[in-house]
Amino acid sequence: MNILLIGSGGREHALAWKMAQSHHCDQLFIAPGNPGTASIGTNIAIDINDFEGLSQFAIEKAVDMIVVGPEEPLVNGIYDFFAQNEATTHINVIGPSKNAAQLEGSKAFSKHFMQRQGIPTASYAEFTKDNYEEGKKYISEHSLPIVLKADGLAAGKGVIIAFSHQEALQSFEEMIQNKQFGAASSKVVIEQFLEGIEVSVFALTDGKNYQIIGHAKDYKRIGEGDTGLNTGGMGCVSPVPFMDLPFMEKVERNIIQPTINGFQKEGLLYKGFVFFGLMNCGGEPYVIEYNCRLGDPETEVILPRLQTDLVSLLAAADNGTLEDVNIEFNDGAFATVMAVSGGYPGSYPKDIKITGIEAANTATNSLVFQAGTGFQGEDIVTKGGRVLTVTAKGNQLQEAVQNAKNALSQIQFEGMYFRKDIGYEFPA
Ligand code: AMP
Ligand code: GLY
Repeated sequence: MNILLIGSGGREHALAWKMAQSHHCDQLFIAPGNPGTASIGTNIAIDINDFEGLSQFAIEKAVDMIVVGPEEPLVNGIYDFFAQNEATTHINVIGPSKNAAQLEGSKAFSKHFMQRQGIPTASYAEFTKDNYEEGKKYISEHSLPIVLKADGLAAGKGVIIAFSHQEALQSFEEMIQNKQFGAASSKVVIEQFLEGIEVSVFALTDGKNYQIIGHAKDYKRIGEGDTGLNTGGMGCVSPVPFMDLPFMEKVERNIIQPTINGFQKEGLLYKGFVFFGLMNCGGEPYVIEYNCRLGDPETEVILPRLQTDLVSLLAAADNGTLEDVNIEFNDGAFATVMAVSGGYPGSYPKDIKITGIEAANTATNSLVFQAGTGFQGEDIVTKGGRVLTVTAKGNQLQEAVQNAKNALSQIQFEGMYFRKDIGYEFPA
């Protein structure tokens, strides 16, 4: 099978690494990829939103399957683009239709969906310019803290947790009146703050059946002890100690099953990954958000933990046999620790030379997944905020984290920062 993978982050490096292990994978192309994916398949310089370019390339190279990493092309309708064109309709595009991708693309859409399907989530209301005054009143009477969310995609920055009414009102004004996130914040969802521990659960669905392919706990804040600004994710562990059988049963019964049944009932065409961003509130799972893709850096731990052949799994999602697949996991615990550029998530320098990737990659039981990196002649240099992540395995969670940090210590670039406390709430 010839596969075209779309994206260029650590998630895509991990996807490429996993898919290349399958004997079903013949040629693997990555658009646009990064130096990490270049060591596994062939990078091609086509933009992730250039559907015309991607489609011409797919036809030319007889691509059988397209795996879409990031949300943007999905929300922009890449699934529909390939499905509606006679020359590409045979290609198995892994991702939801444009309509179903609104589960990630619009917070209001996903809240309505959850409400209709009786899926536990924070209580909420939505506001635009038209009912702005009502929104101010709603905020003033709301208990603290208050969560404000830009309705549309805002590159992970559209959520504000306000600890005073004044701060909430200010953010509300910024979003609606001053278009802080452009069109994405012309509508704002205001919701109840959920107290608990977050966990990300991943399923693959064909729109009717599903398989759970893993779960992970992501560490989103820049600072140790979960302090400071939100980032795209600074590290992950999997499995998560509190994800025991009784809790997983609740997740499946109260959340995953009604979600997949909801796709059927509402005619939402969905063949792809579903990312359930959950909050464990005193043993009860609530949905914080849906994403229509895999997480980053969650993928960098869930795929090393997944024993099952991913390409077979993705083929099964297309040919109606997903139900029959047996999902198996590797023993032990997995952790990934992300190295970021100095200054991230604020501004940071680029084009800084990175050394030691090879040494870290050959450390026992560890894998380097590159994210914001690029080539500069023979060198690999920094190109983004989240630069690379090191995943390692251990018998227990803390051992996995230690192994990841040991391997990461081989890598250097000026200004490099990483959190040393990934997995801190789960001491051995
Ligand atoms: P999101 O962009 O929806 O993933 O939100 C970013 C982060 O904000 C989440 O990962 C949570 O840590 C936090 N968050 C979002 N909604 C809530 C909520 N209702 N209660 C508490 N925390 C939340
Ligand atoms: N790590 C969180 C995300 O991928 O959205």
